[in-house]
Amino acid sequence: MDKEKHRKPRIVVLASGRGSNFQSIIDAGKLGKLNGEIAGLISDNPHAFVLKRADKYGIPKIVVERGAFISDEDFQSGLIGAAKQFCPDLLVLAGFMRLLGKNFLNEFKDRIINIHPSLLPAFRGLNAQKQALEYGVKYTGCTVHFIDEGMDTGSIIDQRVVPVLPGDTEEILASRILREEHVLLVECINAILGGRVKRDGRKVTIIGG
Ligand code: GAR
Repeated sequence: MDKEKHRKPRIVVLASGRGSNFQSIIDAGKLGKLNGEIAGLISDNPHAFVLKRADKYGIPKIVVERGAFISDEDFQSGLIGAAKQFCPDLLVLAGFMRLLGKNFLNEFKDRIINIHPSLLPAFRGLNAQKQALEYGVKYTGCTVHFIDEGMDTGSIIDQRVVPVLPGDTEEILASRILREEHVLLVECINAILGGRVKRDGRKVTIIGG
């Protein structure tokens, strides 16, 4: 039997914090609803709760701290080395709060996705939920996109819309968006690993999606 042909696609998650999106990928796997397996977790934050989640489920993890490197270029090389150890088919940024450099992007071309808590191109960068509240939009949401060199500028794979309701605080809105993130991220991972995502420049189509 050709082992390579029959192996499950390998997903590597990069996360900096709480890791609820990481958990949603784990949960999908446990339910047999993931088109792949989580090969490993990479975090830039040694104190992140996401590391505890990896331990709980026996998922291999590597911490790559920015402070351990003199330059950003060296840090990026550290991230590349860590990711390569897991032989990823797909890299998923799930609350990873650092920009990936050119070398990282070239190494894993078209195999890196990110989840962002707004309807891009609105409210890029940090505190997207706060930005949406302050702007006064009636609808916001979440976006999964391919990574390019900009901040939250890559081709959009899919989005989910969430209403902004009277009396919303940043925390309430963030948790309403988060519920949709957990569904959207797994859907996009499955579509990509199932070969259902076609790219034509910025235009991405999910076949049957
Ligand atoms: C999520 O809301 C994710 O969209 C956001 O960080 C949170 C991580 O939550 N990412 C960004 O803002 C990236 N620009 P989690 O650690 O519970 O998955």
